[in-house]
Amino acid sequence: MNIALIKYWGKAPSHRPEDANLPAVPSLSLTLAGLGTQTRVRLAPELSDDRIVLDGETLGAGALARARPVLDRVRDLADVAAAFDVVSVNSVPTAAGLASSASGMAALAAASARCAGLSLSDTELSALARVGSGSASRSVFAGWAAWEGASARQVHPADHWDVAIVVAVISRGRKPVGSREAMRLTAATSPYYGPWVEQSRETFEEGLRALAARDLGALIDAMEASTLRMHACGMAARPPVLYWKAASLAAIETVTRLRAESGPCCGWTMDAGPNVKVLCAAADAEQVAAALRATPGVGETLICLPGDGVSVHVERTP
Ligand code: PMV
Repeated sequence: MNIALIKYWGKAPSHRPEDANLPAVPSLSLTLAGLGTQTRVRLAPELSDDRIVLDGETLGAGALARARPVLDRVRDLADVAAAFDVVSVNSVPTAAGLASSASGMAALAAASARCAGLSLSDTELSALARVGSGSASRSVFAGWAAWEGASARQVHPADHWDVAIVVAVISRGRKPVGSREAMRLTAATSPYYGPWVEQSRETFEEGLRALAARDLGALIDAMEASTLRMHACGMAARPPVLYWKAASLAAIETVTRLRAESGPCCGWTMDAGPNVKVLCAAADAEQVAAALRATPGVGETLICLPGDGVSVHVERTP
């Protein structure tokens, strides 16, 4: 799983399936330890169609269609025709703005590619994962990743900086509008979409500089600006894209109060859901988590440290 500090929101136009989810803006993320997806893939010539069981449930046609571009691309590249039989388990709530699609598509890309006999570089794997979900391109890499084209790249390893992301879980329910549709609506109808795309490189460069210098205050500045602009842009769409709940705002107020009271240096971000993610020094994570848990509407908190990207284990069945 990865969390974007500088946000991806909007796609470049594409015509070929392998160009799906090319980003309109650059983004910067941190891959997290402990939260992710475990996916087992097998080539299944006896099946007439791909089958994916996610968290114990067989996906219907709609959800399967999201994974299909990845599996089709693998079949193309490896020149195999068989269906894939996939069993996947998320350790993040599916579709609650906790980046399960990022970890899920990265795991699916890595496992299906290896299963079909491909040995792809991380760059190629990132481009393959991107076809399933844009943010998945970053989950291939450990630590800090930047994404601004066909594939993402690692900008710093996980041990570059002792920070944590504290997730304030506000809802584990499914989000009302998925990121794909929300991005389409934003690009088509928000008067702020053009300005959002125009200013995105500046915020991205600011984030990269702050990260290289391990300047937490500056990174938080850039992260909150990127987050607010992304959401403002969505809110101005018609119909509006509005993921915020009252408890999201309460959690944000907790973060700004902690900071104003010269407590730990911490800053917040939100994705396509109501949960709030707080960046702080790893040493301050417990204090930040306790303050968030005392916030009305926050159910639980998860403390996540920088972690590894995707890894593949091969099992041979007799
Ligand atoms: O790649 P998607 O479709 O899951 O979109 C992700 C969008 C955000 O999470 C809101 C931002 C990001 O950069 O991850």
